Amino acid sequence: MNFSKGYSRFYDLFHQEKNYRAEATFVIELLARYGMVRGTLMDLGCGTGRHAAEFAGSGFGVSGVDMSSEMLARADARRTFLPGAVASRLRFRQGDARSVRTEEVYDAVVSLFHVASYQTTNADFMAMCHTAATHLPRSGLFLFDCWYGPAVLADPPTVHVVRASNDDAAVMRIAEPTMRPHDNTVAVNYTFLITDWKTQSVETALETHVMRYMFKPEVELMLDLSGFEVLDSVGWMGGDLSTAHLSATFVARKR
Ligand SMILES: C[S@@+](CC[C@H](N)C(=O)[O-])C[C@H]1O[C@@H](n2cnc3c(N)ncnc32)[C@H](O)[C@@H]1O
Repeated sequence: MNFSKGYSRFYDLFHQEKNYRAEATFVIELLARYGMVRGTLMDLGCGTGRHAAEFAGSGFGVSGVDMSSEMLARADARRTFLPGAVASRLRFRQGDARSVRTEEVYDAVVSLFHVASYQTTNADFMAMCHTAATHLPRSGLFLFDCWYGPAVLADPPTVHVVRASNDDAAVMRIAEPTMRPHDNTVAVNYTFLITDWKTQSVETALETHVMRYMFKPEVELMLDLSGFEVLDSVGWMGGDLSTAHLSATFVARKR
């Protein structure tokens, strides 16, 4: 997996309509339903830090971790524009969700927008669960979302083209998915065509993201083996799990 070229460079541009505030509110309310109303959060795979900034704005101390230096550079840049009190509650560091150890304990660990689906093998996903368990006290909460298997099988991803532009360039992103049914993964081949406004030159960037779609029984089993009790599984942003919605959200408590 490579977040170093087109994807991270244009990540915020392609997700400018994504409502991070509403999503953070959904996560905060779900954590509150299971007893966590204040304190500290570890955000595994924090990306450019948009959820993390919302959590810090709501009073949580947040430690964001991501493996991509390019995504983190954007998160750090965002932090400098936040009010001082909010920025002081926010830290970012580079690390792999499967192995990072911050030597701190948090009240909850969250991992949002399909980070879990980037952990494509049982060993990878369980290593991420182990990271979460290591940074939680007994009864601490672990909340994450992933691609939901029944939804992917009901409506497999198809070729998708999105365009966006900023002051410097116009970008076309072509996503070409290939199902790998025996691994429960989808290889999404991205092509970015980046037209520089000034020179009109076109640059191409290619990258492949392999995403695992997950099923409730296997998630429950791997969480159980990692020392968690599953408290809830709902659709992303609420409602029941559904074959009509790509993302499933799990809340687990450390035993
Ligand atoms: C789709 S982005 C989501 C970013 C952010 N959570 C958000 O909601 O905007 C997925 C992120 O997961 C990160 N990631 C994937 N696997 C990771 C791992 N094993 N350790 C740390 N970061 C990881 C990527 O670098 C990327 O920033």
